[in-house]
Amino acid sequence: MVWSQALQGKDDLTRFKALNWGIRTWDLWNFNDCDKRFGDDWPGRIPAQLIAHILYFFSKQDDLIFDPMAGGGVCADTCLAMGRRCWSLDMDDRPDTRPEIEPYHWDLDNKWEDLPIMGSKGKPDLIIFDPPYFDKKAGEYSKQSISELSRKDYLSFLERFFRFLKKISKKKTRLAFINSDWRDFQNCPADKEEPGQGILVVDYHEILKKTGWTLTHIIQAPLSSERFNAGVVSAMQKKKILGVVSRYVMILR
Ligand SMILES: C[S@@+](CC[C@H](N)C(=O)[O-])C[C@H]1O[C@@H](n2cnc3c(N)ncnc32)[C@H](O)[C@@H]1O
Repeated sequence: MVWSQALQGKDDLTRFKALNWGIRTWDLWNFNDCDKRFGDDWPGRIPAQLIAHILYFFSKQDDLIFDPMAGGGVCADTCLAMGRRCWSLDMDDRPDTRPEIEPYHWDLDNKWEDLPIMGSKGKPDLIIFDPPYFDKKAGEYSKQSISELSRKDYLSFLERFFRFLKKISKKKTRLAFINSDWRDFQNCPADKEEPGQGILVVDYHEILKKTGWTLTHIIQAPLSSERFNAGVVSAMQKKKILGVVSRYVMILR
């Protein structure tokens, strides 16, 4: 809120400068740390700089950004600082700390299209979708999070969700889908991993294509590997375990 007032009327470049963020010019966005001024401490928190880059390249000021799984509110906070309107939802209701995030559970048994909230804000210009990755951190989110689903149900959920996002979009709406390759690499040498058990960026792309989205960019925004301690890294090397730090932002129309 403070940043939104201090930066009122300023263009995007001035805002980046004031916030002390350099602009990444290429399709590799490395950020070592989350900017603690934005969002709450939350499982799967992403850096505000990552959201700011999506906003800079794929939206303009005053655009409506839809953030259907908002988590700690990084997207909502960054939109405020960058002069975008944000509509955030999450299954976790925190009226005291995060009143701007509307409580909503994307439940496979409900008919999402009939919700009164749909249409009340207009169609979004950009959707920033940062779902929990399959299985990862399942224990850290509330029960009924999609990270609890089986691989098959997780992929079915995404298919239905992408179709739904298409329905509430305008022709020019962009979707920024933040995801990561998921492989069951822990305690398993790379050449012993079972094919067909993971979910890779190409699997997401298949579903996105099938649901009417056209891919325009794949941006690499890897997780920092600095968080792994030397002992863990050395054990992985000895066992020929190939870990995952990949993270991608897929941009679709
Ligand atoms: C990866 S986190 C988002 C993190 C956020 N971008 C941040 O930086 O703080 C994903 C969020 O999706 C929410 N979520 C998972 N399943 C959901 C569902 N079925 N309906 C609504 N929200 C859900 C979780 O509560 C979690 O906060």
